[in-house]
Amino acid sequence: TAPRNYTISVIPGDGIGTEVMPEGIRVLEKAASLYGFTIEQQWHDFACCDYYAKHGQMMPDDWKARIGSPDAIFFGAVGWPDTVPDHISLWGSLLQFRREYDQYVNLRPARLMPGVPSPLAGRGPGSIDMWIVRENTEGEYSSVGGRMYPGTKREIVIQETVMSRHGVDRVLRYAFDLAQSRDARHLTSATKSNGIAITMPFWDERVEEMAKAYPEVRTDKYHIDILTAQFVMNPDRFDVVVASNLFGDILSDLGPACTGTIGVAPSGNINPDRTGPSLFEPVHGSAPDIAGKGIANPIGQIWSASMMLEHLGEVEAGKAIMRAIETVLADPKLRTADLKGEADTVTCGKAVADALS
Ligand code: NAI
Ligand code: MG
Repeated sequence: TAPRNYTISVIPGDGIGTEVMPEGIRVLEKAASLYGFTIEQQWHDFACCDYYAKHGQMMPDDWKARIGSPDAIFFGAVGWPDTVPDHISLWGSLLQFRREYDQYVNLRPARLMPGVPSPLAGRGPGSIDMWIVRENTEGEYSSVGGRMYPGTKREIVIQETVMSRHGVDRVLRYAFDLAQSRDARHLTSATKSNGIAITMPFWDERVEEMAKAYPEVRTDKYHIDILTAQFVMNPDRFDVVVASNLFGDILSDLGPACTGTIGVAPSGNINPDRTGPSLFEPVHGSAPDIAGKGIANPIGQIWSASMMLEHLGEVEAGKAIMRAIETVLADPKLRTADLKGEADTVTCGKAVADALS
């Protein structure tokens, strides 16, 4: 068999990004040694506000050349609003990666874990376990439109939704493949074809067409309004949920919110065609309010490492990390203060690495 050597870009970013990243790396290294692959780390000091303070921009002009062609990018969090406005820090870094590397899928799990109380009454560990697949490059977030007669009584504003067959099909294919790989083999599509009567019927048509290629996957669809209600009332109904950019944005916050804390949630910005690297990062930001105290929950970063390994094909190692995370979260001595635990960031990270063996 071919040697399993991977190169990853490591970009810790700002605030607690710099504190949780070493724990993500610790667990990755442990997983590599146990499962017989190697990871070469290329650390970068850009895409953070310290870099901005020194250079007046978030990244060097030749950032793409410096990143080269790693197998994936492992990212912490970016943003330090006291010194750099958020739109500059975000647009100058993360959003560049998403666009330049055509990361057209935004993937987030919503899974209720031990030790993490759900805000929904009566839901225990395992009772919520779904993936939200968001289209990440077109749809409602388009730059097609304009404003006429600004500031007058005739003021007109228009912003068009853009859906291409190429763009819709590729995210659907990813979602169906994911559903096919899961035990439940169930895909739900978010629509609103009763109200948005041009683009959403097109979305539905493409879902029906794609479903023909996946006869083993049970497919259904909900209008987005009732779907949000169902996420709260019956989250156990869902397995893989695929949505346009706007609907996916909403669902990918709502789903994880139903499963408790922001400190454990991971995400992937994925280029499934592998024409560029995919990027894995915790959902949370740089948390200036707790940065520097060593108390941030590292699980979101570590779970992102698990997603990254599965993307790289190291599925067993990725699953082992998930089991280790569950073991640690169940123990109040090993989880962090945001989950009413006693551990600091390093103790929690080490515990996950230890639980791996
Ligand atoms: P945030 O996610 O950084 O923090 C929100 C709240 O959750 C804070 O009270 C924080 O202490 C807590 N929290 C977050 N992660 C935690 C963890 N791992 N352990 C324990 N508690 C945790 O969001 P906020 O405050 O809105 O944004 C702060 C900065 O982060 C801003 O500059 C923002 O633009 C940036 N940001 C960056 C993201 C990214 O890099 N993908 C995502 C979200 C925000
Ligand atoms: Mg959002």
